[in-house]
Amino acid sequence: MNIQKIRNDFPILKRKINGKLLAYLDNAATSQKPKQVIDMLSHYYSKHNANVHRGIHTLSVEATEELELARKKVADFVGVSDPSEIVFVRNATEAINLVAYAWGRLNIEKGDEIVLTVAEHHSNFVVWQQLAMENGAVLKIVPIDENGEVDQEAFKEALTKKTKLVTFCHVSNVLGTINPVEKLVSIVKGQWSNVIILIDGAQAVPHVPVDIPRIGCDFYVFTGHKMLGPTGIGVLWGKREILEEMPPFLFGGEMISKVRLDNSTWNELPWKFEAGTPNIAGAIGLGAAVDYLSKIGMENVRAHEIELTEYAISRLSGIQDIRILGQKDSKKRGGVISFNVGNIHAHDVASILDSEGIAIRSGHHCAQPLMEFLGISSAARASSYVYNNFEEIDRLVEGVMKVKKTFKINSKHEIHV
Ligand SMILES: Cc1ncc(COP(=O)(O)O)c(C=O)c1O
Repeated sequence: MNIQKIRNDFPILKRKINGKLLAYLDNAATSQKPKQVIDMLSHYYSKHNANVHRGIHTLSVEATEELELARKKVADFVGVSDPSEIVFVRNATEAINLVAYAWGRLNIEKGDEIVLTVAEHHSNFVVWQQLAMENGAVLKIVPIDENGEVDQEAFKEALTKKTKLVTFCHVSNVLGTINPVEKLVSIVKGQWSNVIILIDGAQAVPHVPVDIPRIGCDFYVFTGHKMLGPTGIGVLWGKREILEEMPPFLFGGEMISKVRLDNSTWNELPWKFEAGTPNIAGAIGLGAAVDYLSKIGMENVRAHEIELTEYAISRLSGIQDIRILGQKDSKKRGGVISFNVGNIHAHDVASILDSEGIAIRSGHHCAQPLMEFLGISSAARASSYVYNNFEEIDRLVEGVMKVKKTFKINSKHEIHV
């Protein structure tokens, strides 16, 4: 992988922040976009813009073809052979809500159990919490172990004949843990084949090769903006037979087959779930992002991430007073590294790093139950992607040293401001 060549594709990486070259290490929040994606958006609006699936004129046919080609590219990227199982939504959050409304509200009843882990992003937590409250279902929360991995014994114990839905993230947005998704699915399906499994792949699809059918789940969701694509486009994959049984989530244009004065019938998959004018440019942009990642090869993306993470963890661990959360073995985790420096607030860490042109995230990372479980209120988080290099990790380490110096932290975790 030629990182310099890749970096040249990302115009924003030439930006200076506070007089320093940008070191963008906030990729778990959103990724930057290569010129191939930016140019595709411009090309679409300059040459093909029209509404889809309804016009007979040339532009409309072209826009429709481009949209459906993007769907096919996305399906291929995650090993799905039937593109009509790929539903375009706004983001991972909307995909999970779609399942909760269209499948959950019909199938989860009073006393039923929903099993999920304490490490879920709010998107995959609050949705089920609210559904459980509404329907009188029980939320069963599985803990994680000291490495940030799902406690498999507790996971097995949580499953009962009342379990209707099991859900977990593929990769944690806080700990970087890569969950053994195939194993977890086989634990569930081996005992309770009727239980529905939804996997939140928002942090996985951008970083590791994903073959959805191999995993064996029922629903899998991800989001375009974390994988070099535009914002406002995400993906719900569902098994055809389940999607077919589900009623629509939103009603209106595009999603109908026939509308009569007294009743209506629904369009075929996936359009039954795509009411109104979709994010056509966003989907086409996501198609370009998928082309870009495929050209590099997801095995190479992952290999680069392992190298960079190993280097970052070994350098950061050398700093006294730093506490890195989760797994230290880079082969078992993604490129998300959350840490705290003594008892300095993560926002202070992020703000000093910003003064050095280094962008990281700080806060609770939309995972307050996990923060509570870990006994912390916030953490700093550096997360890498295809365009990050070793030099940027060195700058991160120097930045953390500056944080310590600014706060005059000594090795007893005392701060003298
Ligand atoms: C693990 C995980 N799930 C879901 C989401 C939600 O993604 P989006 O905001 O694009 O819906 C995120 C975003 O940070 C995430 O990290």
